[in-house]
Amino acid sequence: MGLFKKLFTNCACPQGRMGRAMLKFMNLCHAPLTNWGLNLVGIQDGWTILDIGCGGGATLQRLLKRSQGSTVYGIDISEESVAKARQVNARVLNKQVFVCQGSAEQLPYDDETFDLVTAVETVYFWPHLPACFQEVRRVLKQGGKFAILIEVVEGDSMWTNVVEGMKVYSPEELQALLNEAGFIHTEIHRMKPSNATIIGVKA
Ligand SMILES: C[S@@+](CC[C@H](N)C(=O)[O-])C[C@H]1O[C@@H](n2cnc3c(N)ncnc32)[C@H](O)[C@@H]1O
Repeated sequence: MGLFKKLFTNCACPQGRMGRAMLKFMNLCHAPLTNWGLNLVGIQDGWTILDIGCGGGATLQRLLKRSQGSTVYGIDISEESVAKARQVNARVLNKQVFVCQGSAEQLPYDDETFDLVTAVETVYFWPHLPACFQEVRRVLKQGGKFAILIEVVEGDSMWTNVVEGMKVYSPEELQALLNEAGFIHTEIHRMKPSNATIIGVKA
């Protein structure tokens, strides 16, 4: 595998030195998408929020900034991501920010825990989206929101050719999957052709 491909395959599950470099890079380069997408959600003070596939933890910081008195949880399958997210949020770790290792398929949280669940640049790697979306729905409170942020859409073979195991979806496909999983008021927002935020509400 070439160096470029090796580096970018670390987007799927960051590991080792290259994984750490990729986490630093993603914390910076996902800022425009994340700041735009989070501003669409209408985040309120005092919310309990979960970020799935939290990577290096910058989204946890961005969520905290938007909600006074909130508690923010991060979960990621990669040990390296969990370590970086804990380091980046060290000041508030285990007070306002809690990070653990685990998968979107089986979330270690009680039913109806969260006001908001976010997934930034990560659904491409989730194993079975219908089951994962049901799991997100389970942990959301009634009226809670699920926000999916993507910047690679269907047909973008530049990324699927370099990142092993990546599956891309159109915003419309993700919206249909949210509808099938029982979310209501689903919406698609676009910043440019490839950047989208898809939001659904738990009925
Ligand atoms: C491209 S990175 C994005 C990280 C972060 N959300 C950001 O915007 O910088 C994708 C992240 O999703 C995580 N991931 C992949 N599959 C996952 C799964 N099934 N459950 C939870 N996290 C997962 C990866 O380990 C990785 O940290």
